Amino acid sequence: MRSAPSAIDRLLKPLHRWIWVDAHRRARKLLRFAETEADGGRDLSRAAELTADPLLRRLYLRHAQDEMRHADLFRARGRALLQRLPHRVAGIDANWIAPGERGLDDLRVEVQGEGTLLAFLHLSEKAAAGRFALYEEVLDCDAETRALFARILEDEAFHMTYTRKQLARLSPRKQGMDLWQARAVRVWKAYLRLAMALASAIGAAVLTAQYFIVLPLFALLARRAANRDPPGFVRTRSAPALESQY
Ligand SMILES: [Fe+2]
Ligand SMILES: [Fe+2]
Repeated sequence: MRSAPSAIDRLLKPLHRWIWVDAHRRARKLLRFAETEADGGRDLSRAAELTADPLLRRLYLRHAQDEMRHADLFRARGRALLQRLPHRVAGIDANWIAPGERGLDDLRVEVQGEGTLLAFLHLSEKAAAGRFALYEEVLDCDAETRALFARILEDEAFHMTYTRKQLARLSPRKQGMDLWQARAVRVWKAYLRLAMALASAIGAAVLTAQYFIVLPLFALLARRAANRDPPGFVRTRSAPALESQY
């Protein structure tokens, strides 16, 4: 089963195309995706250790292996792209608009119930599958990276499906509530990410304004004060005579 991109992502498709068309940014994003995939793989290995259900343990382990493989694939592709490009200072990566797979998104595996974890994973995998489908669509400038997303999407579709089925099996009465709770956590985390991005943008703007407006003002005042000073050493009335060491 293939997941469709969200309505917002569809609306922002031209922006996503712009984000991915730059080869440097594309390479950096793939390397970043590799980090989050590996992070997700580690969380899933921990979840496999903690679960008491044998079937779920097997599925979590396979899932963890998939995420580690995705990390390797993204890393290899990102490095291959960077090798062919001249060195350039990093620019805007727009990670909050075009993130990769978030996995458990810093959710503490140890303190979550089976249902909450599965609901969160299901929504996260669904969102990742939708996003990856969109990235595949906009990547007409890079056939190799597009093929990579297509390959990874098959795994993401499996992750999305098995987490939903296991949620229904292990939490048949509470599954609806688990999904709503997981949705609320995801909305809260999205708000925090947006607030952080906004705060960082405002901070950068204020610092830039200080640099170009306040600093030149002080430099001007310092120069005017320096112009008023007579050149060379001047003995002032308050200064002691420099006739001895004491
Ligand atoms: Fe993945
Ligand atoms: Fe996944």
